[in-house]
Amino acid sequence: MAKDREIQYLGLDLGTTGIKLVYNGGKAQETIPSYVTIFKDSLLRLKHGGDVFVGQLGIEKQRYIRADGHGKTGYILNGGRIGDMELAKEALKYAINKVGADKMRLVVAIPVEEMCFQQKNQAAGAENTEAVKSLQQIISECEKVDACKVISQVDSVAESIGVPGKIPLAMIGDLGGGNSELKICFGDMYVEEADYRQVNDKNGKYLAGNWIDELLCGLVMDLRPQYKAKKNFDFEFSKEEAQALKEAYGFVDGVEGDPILHNFQKKDTLYRDQTIDVYDAVKNACTAIVEPMADKMQSLAGTVEAKDQPILNSNMYFTGRLAQLKGLTGAVEKELAKRGVRNVKIQVLQNPNYAGAVGAYQFACECPEDKW
Ligand SMILES: Nc1ncnc2c1ncn2[C@@H]1O[C@H](COP(=O)(O)OP(=O)(O)OP(=O)(O)O)[C@@H](O)[C@H]1O
Ligand SMILES: [Mg+2]
Repeated sequence: MAKDREIQYLGLDLGTTGIKLVYNGGKAQETIPSYVTIFKDSLLRLKHGGDVFVGQLGIEKQRYIRADGHGKTGYILNGGRIGDMELAKEALKYAINKVGADKMRLVVAIPVEEMCFQQKNQAAGAENTEAVKSLQQIISECEKVDACKVISQVDSVAESIGVPGKIPLAMIGDLGGGNSELKICFGDMYVEEADYRQVNDKNGKYLAGNWIDELLCGLVMDLRPQYKAKKNFDFEFSKEEAQALKEAYGFVDGVEGDPILHNFQKKDTLYRDQTIDVYDAVKNACTAIVEPMADKMQSLAGTVEAKDQPILNSNMYFTGRLAQLKGLTGAVEKELAKRGVRNVKIQVLQNPNYAGAVGAYQFACECPEDKW
């Protein structure tokens, strides 16, 4: 169908750590940290030349909010749900303005968790959840936006790989910073609670990148007594340092790598040249997600009819930046085989940071005029 030339399409994946944007014929792909700081204090506003800071600037400005009433600061998502609408609104406005088009059609991908709450509410005769309602409200208030749709992140990934056109049925895992969502996709974009699983522990804690960082931080700190006793050397280790280690070296048991040494050279400390061996800590923290993930995948695979099982087993895909952990797919396949789900080959999508936003973008471009 011929489209109005002036309309620009935007795919936006609202992630816990980053908002991913795809526009301009799919050529522009950008990530904005999902962090916002709002100053509500006139002196702060004056001193910093503004009141809203999104992304990296938002992170940098957070330290200026020292007292209640100064303003607010934080990530916009928490555990797959939108935490603070005011922060989300500023982040969305910022992202939409980045595109620089006068007329825009927008598809926003949100966590399956949030989508599921919304549909359950609708099925029960209620309106959209507050969060989704507010999201749509916020977006429709942006004068540049001509039309908008909200879909789940995993379904937008399914769109990017061609479910159901090229692939009839798939299991997709979106492994991010805040949560790891798994869903069976048929291409209908409808979220049935039975078709999706969150990877969580028995206390309901979401197991994803941030959780591994916390675990790794604890495991490294556990090494302190050993280094104190042997080398008379003490240290501090932060979650940010854990995240950097995971991103640079993260791997799971089953692939052997080179030694991983953490050096404190950048720290202003007496021990700045000291080095600690963090190989086992990195391996153990990253491996901890394998079994819970296989448990949830087994449970999800069990919901598919036996005749469709072979199709599903050869169409399992991981995306999200955490999917880049070395050895993850092989380790999960092994765990699945132990649980009786055999002949599985999990593929990591080529562009794991943007698969959700690319799918949202494609969906926007292909959406028939009367379906907006
Ligand atoms: N090379 C890497 N290897 C392993 N993990 C990585 C790598 N690069 C980034 N990560 C981790 O991936 C996580 C972020 O993934 P992603 O950007 O897909 O999440 P998100 O979309 O912001 O969050 P969510 O999908 O949970 O809402 C973080 O924990 C980050 O540290
Ligand atoms: Mg994500």
